Order: sequence, then C-alpha cells, then structure tokens
Amino acid sequence: MLLLSIETSCDETAAAVVRDGRTILSNVVATQIRDHAEYGGVVPEIASRKHLEMIPVVIAEALRGADVSIDGIEGVAVTQGPGLAGALLVGISLAKAIAFARGIPIVGVNHIEGHLSAIFLERPVEFPFVALAVSGGHTHLYRVDGIGRYTTLGQTLDDAAGEAFDKVAKLLGLPYPGGVEVDRLAAAGDPERIPFPRPLLHDGSYNFSFSGLKTAVLTHLKKHPDYSSEQNLRDICASFQRAVCDVLVAKTFQAAEAAGVERVVMAGGVACNSALRRAMTAAAARRGMELSIPAPPLCSDNAAMIAVPGDYYLTRGIRGDLSLDALVSWPL
Ligand code: KG4
Ligand code: ZN
Repeated sequence: MLLLSIETSCDETAAAVVRDGRTILSNVVATQIRDHAEYGGVVPEIASRKHLEMIPVVIAEALRGADVSIDGIEGVAVTQGPGLAGALLVGISLAKAIAFARGIPIVGVNHIEGHLSAIFLERPVEFPFVALAVSGGHTHLYRVDGIGRYTTLGQTLDDAAGEAFDKVAKLLGLPYPGGVEVDRLAAAGDPERIPFPRPLLHDGSYNFSFSGLKTAVLTHLKKHPDYSSEQNLRDICASFQRAVCDVLVAKTFQAAEAAGVERVVMAGGVACNSALRRAMTAAAARRGMELSIPAPPLCSDNAAMIAVPGDYYLTRGIRGDLSLDALVSWPL
C-alpha cells in the first residue's frame, strides 16, 4: 500500500510517502525551531500558524520526492495525538480533506506508537521487545508484543528526559532546543566532575523523575556562579547528561531482564543523544542483548514513522472517518 503520512503534533511540519509501511520513498520535515527559539520553547499559537503555512508545501515536496502524484496515494495516516491541539488539527484537517477528496481510507496514529515503530523502516525486530520512548514530551518504558500491543512498564512521574535537557540548557543560557547543545558541550566535558543525583535509580520501579535533577543543576549553579567558564559549562553538561543516561540505561535493561525479553529498542528525540546511544550500546553488549536504535533523523519527529502503524492498521481494515479528532492526551 502506498501511504501518505502527516505529522504536526508539535513543532515539526512533516509528510512522507511510504510503501507497505517499510520503504521510505520520501520523508520531509520542516522544522519551526527558529520560529520558537526567541521564546525559549514551543509557542502553541505560532506552531499552529506555521503548520498551516507549511503543510501544503511539505506535502507537495513529499509527493515530488517520491515521484508519485496524489492519484497514486492509496491511504492517509495522520498523527492524531498526543500533542498540541491546534497543531494536531492542522494535520488532521488536511488528512481528512485528502481522504475525502480522493476517496481513500484514513487512519489516526498515536505519535508515541510512531516513535516505537520507526525502527521497522530500517530493519525488522522480532517481538517481544522492551522499548524506551524518550523525547521532549515522553519518557516511557513499554513491553511491545506486536504493533498495537503495548504494556506500560514505567514512565516519568514529572518531566520528560528531553524536557530536562531543554530546561537545564535554558538555565545554562544555551539556545533552544537545548538537548543538542548539551550533547555537543558534554562531548568535551568531565562526566564525573559533579555528582548529580540519579533519581529513583534504586526504587525498584521502572519509573523516572527528572525535575529534581534539574533543581540539582540549579542549586549547583547558585553555589558555583563561575559556570560561565567554558570548561565548567562543559563539565556541568557532561555530568548532567551522565546522570540522565545512567538512570535511563539502568531502568531499561532492568525492565528487559525482569520481563525476560532479549531485545531492546530506543526511540524519540533524546535517542539522538550521542552519550545515551553509546551507553545503551555498551549495556546491551554486556548483557548479550540485541539493541536497536534508529538513525537520528528517524528518532526525532518525522512522518515516515507514522506510516508504519498506519499501514498495519489500514491493511487490516482498521480506519478512521471524517469525525477523527485531535487527542491531546492519548496513552498508548
Ligand atoms: O521526539 P522529539 O523530536 O519530539 C517530541 O516528540 O518531543 O524530541 C525532541 C526532544 C527535545 O527535548 C530535544 O531537546 C531532545 O529531543 N533532543 C536531544 C538531542 N536531540 C534532540 N536531547 C539530548 N541530546 C540530543 N542530541
Ligand atoms: Zn516525538
């Protein structure tokens, strides 16, 4: 099946053309980062306006890149939630218009399910696996027994890991979004210089908590106002990043061991983090487990990942209709 998929849940306007939920013919992402940067975070109103402006351009580009006309598209998959209501509605409205005008089926896809499925665009992974979805809005551990078959093992009790990266970056005066900047500075920093806490590391659950870690960085900055020195800044970034990675890695593999599962998948924007990728790879190797992490462009928000569950559902006759509406909060 040749699918057009659309993703507008946050600050990326994205469209892709994907064959059989596996082969990417095009995957176009127009980021709004520069539009939100001066506000230090995503402004929902600006996000909706930018999506409205960019979505026709991005879809045209996706069709052109795939060398197909709209007549060749056999179905539409669109992110239905979770995300910003106004942002989601732009993608959903256009997806419904295309489905109605072309007389093709439409299906609403959960954004997190998209992240968890992105790996299938690169290679097959056998079920079951334990998946860590780690992004700006989510830090969740799931047992995955198949597409559509998810059991939540744990989740953040407060901030998502990406949110913690972005907030700490803001405290350090780094530009938005901070995750990439912290990653870059941490590369030349000492990750053992500052013993930041490892929240909930030994609590026996698979839950996370990152807001205390952010406060620990703030407390450190108040006590040591000399962080503007480049090396101190790098050491803070590296030490903070190490604390986040230690907790994410430990809990993911504890969960996999407890579930008796041999395979681990990591996905979401924070899965682009170079130290986290290295730490996960080393931990999997130590345990002889199979680890799969998509390439960075498939970890951060994109539309191709939405086509994977989209194709699965549509080929099984599971579809939405023109009453399809945005779901701001939608647990998997
Ligand atoms: O999945 P994503 O693109 O959007 C959401 O669904 O949230 O994730 C965005 C998050 C942001 O918080 C961003 O700072 C973080 O992923 N991020 C990173 C890196 N690249 C993106 N965090 C740490 N290191 C990175 N290299
Ligand atoms: Zn995302």
